[in-house]
Amino acid sequence: MRMYDIIMKKRSGGELTKEEIAYFIEGYTKGEIPDYQVSALMMAIYFQKMTQQETLALTMAMADSGDRLDLSEIHGVKVDKHSTGGVGDKTSLALAPMVAACGISVAKMSGRGLGHTGGTIDKLESFPGFTTSLTTDRFIENVNRIGIAIMGQTADLAPADKKLYALRDVTATVDNLSLIASSIMSKKLAAGADAIVLDVKTGSGAFMKQEKDARALAEEMVKIGANAGRKTVAVISDMDQPLGYAVGNALEVKEAIDTLKGKGPEDFVELCLTLGSQMLMAGGKAEDSEAAEAMLKAVISDGSALRKLAEFVEAQGGDSQAVYHPEMLPKAAIVQPVPAPESGYVSHIVCDEVGLCSLILGGGRETKDSEIDLSVGLVLCKKVGDYVEAGEPLAVIHANDPSRAAEASERYRRACSITAEKPEKVPLIKGIVRYVQ
Ligand code: URA
Repeated sequence: MRMYDIIMKKRSGGELTKEEIAYFIEGYTKGEIPDYQVSALMMAIYFQKMTQQETLALTMAMADSGDRLDLSEIHGVKVDKHSTGGVGDKTSLALAPMVAACGISVAKMSGRGLGHTGGTIDKLESFPGFTTSLTTDRFIENVNRIGIAIMGQTADLAPADKKLYALRDVTATVDNLSLIASSIMSKKLAAGADAIVLDVKTGSGAFMKQEKDARALAEEMVKIGANAGRKTVAVISDMDQPLGYAVGNALEVKEAIDTLKGKGPEDFVELCLTLGSQMLMAGGKAEDSEAAEAMLKAVISDGSALRKLAEFVEAQGGDSQAVYHPEMLPKAAIVQPVPAPESGYVSHIVCDEVGLCSLILGGGRETKDSEIDLSVGLVLCKKVGDYVEAGEPLAVIHANDPSRAAEASERYRRACSITAEKPEKVPLIKGIVRYVQ
């Protein structure tokens, strides 16, 4: 078999066999097939797409490209959660402690930022000393002791996805249904949880801009999960504007902490309650979503979810004092408002542009090896449907470089549309997908 022929076959719209897929995944994982050939194949897949059979074969080949975690030593049902990626999506930071405080074991593998979207690991590294490089033994020990552990993708777990993820990030080949579905599900299957709750984003800040594509992605992933014997459910949620107000690593951590103190933004709280309910139901802790929501609200109001976050940060080497004193988190030197050019209602915010503003400020990677600045980002002052007076701030930029601040400000202003009429409110939750035979 030759990689050249595989690229050519896909470029011409052919269907790759299981063997061809296994060949390129194995060769790429071992370093025998170079980045440039795999980049070409990713671009061919991007344009020609993959069938369901190819997507399943790609998922399984990536899940088997390294070890699979054996979580049988963890007591009870292990629940994992994964988002397809969004802007201001700090959900895991608040949700994992909420669910763990309700008695569910959260054994989660997370990723770094991808394209215009942020990643949970980068955000967690805002806590001084925090590490997601855990050995399997420590991962299991932490879940058994405190109910949560989040680890980064090790060299042993779905290593093919780890390499492909970083390559797709810098070759504009992220937003393809099969590549996203196989990337997420290969990690989830290798990471060994019994139940998987997926947050599939749709809108201008998501990889799936159209709701029908997000639904197709949700259905594909739920089917793959069911095929592999995992209880899988997908929530389709709006990402046509940033989630909450904060965008940028440390800024999002602060907003997640506020949420655990009961002072979270309405949309973010709604999403945490919806996903959290699915996790509690999948883990057998609640009969229905009303009972689950009541449990989740209780762990916020009695402070146990916030304490759980502190325990989790401490258990992974971080300074848990930052949970109670968020002013210890990285801070940017320049904090400047973006004034509204006119009065009216904010009718639309081009959400991926907001993610790119954070990237321009240094909050994301431009190449595989870029260092990121955890302190920078934006905090929105107005969301879609809010009224703004000319000159009032639309958002506040947090930067460490004046020229980057100016560029991000201008870009943010252009990303916002202001109209005389108040726009209609769109629902945050667009549907829930479960496997039906
Ligand atoms: N999240 C992932 O883990 N992979 C993708 O391809 C997109 C989002």
